[in-house]
Amino acid sequence: MSHKSSLRPALLFGAALGVLCTLGFSLPEAAQAKAKAAAHKTVKKKSVKKKVVAKAPATIAVDPAWPKLAPAGLVDPATEAKITDIMSKMTLEEKVGQTIQADIAYIKPEDLKTYPLGSILAGGNSAPGGNERATPDQWLKLADDYWRAALDRPTKAPIPLLFGIDAVHGHSNLVGATIFPHNVGLGATHDPDLIEKIGAATAAEMAAAGVDWTFAPTVAVARDKRWGRSYESYSENPADVAAYAGRMVEGLQGEGGGANGIQPGHIMSTAKHFLGDGGTKDGKDQGDAEMSEADLARIHGAGYPPAIEAGALSVMISFSSWNGQKMAGNKRLITGALKQRMHFDGFTITDWDAHRQLESCAKDDCPEAMNAGVDMFMAPDSWKPMYENTLADVKAGTIPMSRLDDAVRRILRAKIKGGLFTLGAPLDRPLSGKWDQLGSPEHRALARQAVRESLVLIKNENHTLPLDPGARILVTGSGANDIGKQSGGWTITWQGTGNSRADFPNGETIYEGIAGAVKQAGGVATLSDNGFYKEKPDVAVVVIGEDPYAEFQGDRTNLDYQTGDRTDLEMIHKLKSAGIKVVTVFLSGRPLWTNPEINASDAFVEAWLPGTEGGGIADVIVGDLNKQPRYDFKGKLTFSWPKTANQGPLNIGTAGYDPLFPYGYGLTYADIGDVPQLSEDSGLRNEAVVNVDTYFAAGRVKAPWQSAVMDGQGITMVSGASVESASGNVTQTTVDADKQESGRSVVFKGKGIGAVAIFGSPVDLSRQTTGKMALAVTYRLDSAVSGPVMLTMGKDEKTYTSLDIGPELKAPVGQWTTLKVKLDCYQAAGLDVSQVGVPFSLATTTPLSISYSEIKLASDEGDAVCPAK
Ligand code: BGC
Ligand code: BGC
Repeated sequence: MSHKSSLRPALLFGAALGVLCTLGFSLPEAAQAKAKAAAHKTVKKKSVKKKVVAKAPATIAVDPAWPKLAPAGLVDPATEAKITDIMSKMTLEEKVGQTIQADIAYIKPEDLKTYPLGSILAGGNSAPGGNERATPDQWLKLADDYWRAALDRPTKAPIPLLFGIDAVHGHSNLVGATIFPHNVGLGATHDPDLIEKIGAATAAEMAAAGVDWTFAPTVAVARDKRWGRSYESYSENPADVAAYAGRMVEGLQGEGGGANGIQPGHIMSTAKHFLGDGGTKDGKDQGDAEMSEADLARIHGAGYPPAIEAGALSVMISFSSWNGQKMAGNKRLITGALKQRMHFDGFTITDWDAHRQLESCAKDDCPEAMNAGVDMFMAPDSWKPMYENTLADVKAGTIPMSRLDDAVRRILRAKIKGGLFTLGAPLDRPLSGKWDQLGSPEHRALARQAVRESLVLIKNENHTLPLDPGARILVTGSGANDIGKQSGGWTITWQGTGNSRADFPNGETIYEGIAGAVKQAGGVATLSDNGFYKEKPDVAVVVIGEDPYAEFQGDRTNLDYQTGDRTDLEMIHKLKSAGIKVVTVFLSGRPLWTNPEINASDAFVEAWLPGTEGGGIADVIVGDLNKQPRYDFKGKLTFSWPKTANQGPLNIGTAGYDPLFPYGYGLTYADIGDVPQLSEDSGLRNEAVVNVDTYFAAGRVKAPWQSAVMDGQGITMVSGASVESASGNVTQTTVDADKQESGRSVVFKGKGIGAVAIFGSPVDLSRQTTGKMALAVTYRLDSAVSGPVMLTMGKDEKTYTSLDIGPELKAPVGQWTTLKVKLDCYQAAGLDVSQVGVPFSLATTTPLSISYSEIKLASDEGDAVCPAK
């Protein structure tokens, strides 16, 4: 393998191999068979039932900070009469069915002939036939199949099926769609008209594919930018979110669409996530917002009144908690604040399985949520028992009939206003299959304009920008020619990872855009991988930044860009020391602490997550033949730029506000673009910088650690979600642990040595050892243990200590548990804890299926073990 690593992993694993070979064991056939049989056992989750006493819907007093809204016009006599008529013909089963939503990965169209569900969704990783790169025709056919199946059931009350999807920056699941900048970029444009047009363009592309409902806009007000969903937020300033939320709803649904009925070519919207998603402690996704109700309403509630007034037909309830209580069970806020005080007459839906996080609920049963005011359950995989249990809950009176009726009425109201009863089956609609809408020149031009207007010029020393198209221009960096990286999460796949150029038939990379603009002016721009060049350029455009992520997988502990590994900075320095001017274009879902990179660059442009129209960047940074700008910079920060890496919560209008670049900052070509030398002290303590304590968490190997799998034939570095070792003896894929895709599942086939390891430059764990810390591995056996399993820690390939944890892997197959191995046991066995470059390596020669979701140091609370050497 040609991977560069200071550690030479081949030798590292050679060591592990040596350990195992000296053990000289093999697995008896019977044990192999047993292991195989055990591999697929799953443990059933017990359903916890609790009766909730039903009360008549009385007005709930809420904090006066909640605005009192007039009805948005969703309720009118004709619609209500129609609903009453339909409901009079519905069976109890059909009513309950309306309140359940299943994911297409877990329900077949035929199921709808038996189960009268009201809705389906295609989640971030769900697609026709499981193929994320399915053709638009396949998506349309899928919508049509489900639609027809739902109506192909003997009934007195035929009700069209509602199909929802996360079209959060364009119809972003679909290959060929226009991918607009994520909300963080749209916020920086400060252009509500543009935002409305983007909503309309997104709707048009969705309508062509027969999808009637998007889970957008996100109206979160991200207050701690360590939150992995900050880029889905328009601004830290509630006033901005309020200014854009309603306009996005109008764009998607069409003006007056909620009240007067959505016209073909528009679709239903969702304001999400109600409430406080952007206000959780430490920016933790799905975490807890600790604040007064007045602050919650004023800051995090700001986007809802305009969205409701614009006629938003649905609101998604947040995964998160407010003062310790999960939102999906919060009657005061859902029924009291949202439905009563703000007069929201559409329907509410829970987030992906979120109801199961309520203490009194199970994944497949949650009367408490419905009684709190939830109208529809997003029950992606558990829809069937959810339907049955909810039915039983209504029959038992645990959910009052009046509450169910209200939920159904709201859903039917949205379906009527959404035009579902008049649209017909997806394949029969006049606008269906109009694939010229997908990535149409008009939509792409709009996206390009949004990119242009979202760019924030941070620094422009000596008027480095605009680029002279006649100069020798090098375009380099990990984001230069990577359309997946520039698009971010929620692009084709949930995490936005694994996307290639071919997945974007209509887009343009940033390099392509620059090359095109320069060529037009008669010059040449050259692409290079890591700042290398044959002919010395005059100027280098270095495009770097965050790799794609979504939701909790994007959570950070601090705001330092490239913690402990400043490879991009090194590249900038190298170019600079060769006398080349550097323009850094930074791709990120939030401002990050980049003082060293800003210092080293002549110009620095924050480009956010621009989407497919990379050409918008060239429009602004490449000048004309007279070196004059073709377009000026317009973008202004809606997120304050941190002065140190630990300014997670940094918000305009708060006490002690001390940003590097304040809210509203953004230079233009008219400005003197100099930025004084910035401090290069990130403010972080050393140990935080290197992730001394955490090696794998939330679905990621933590920087600067790396990971690899190996077998007798060699080493394979892990770069994506799935990997197979050289001979195929070890495979590793993603697995759902506590959250979706938060773990890795490793299968050792047992054909000789196999290992998975995490390694990096050695760190000093002496303090951790004296502090009674242990190596904690959260794991799940997917097959029985059939022989020694070596857990190794070490300095490098030559110096290491292995302990056999086979006998300690005691949890029953299928059950997640944490094994803690004392650091001082490794020390007693000879490990130099002051030099640990391999904090984790798991190796075996026997067949074994095991998953892990977290590998870190944790304190020994009397529960750590000391396995034999
Ligand atoms: C789904 C996403 C969803 C996520 C929830 C994924 O498996 O595809 O749509 O948002 O799980 O954590
Ligand atoms: C996310 C939502 C999304 C839903 C469906 C959830 O995990 O939090 O924002 O709409 O999945 O994909």
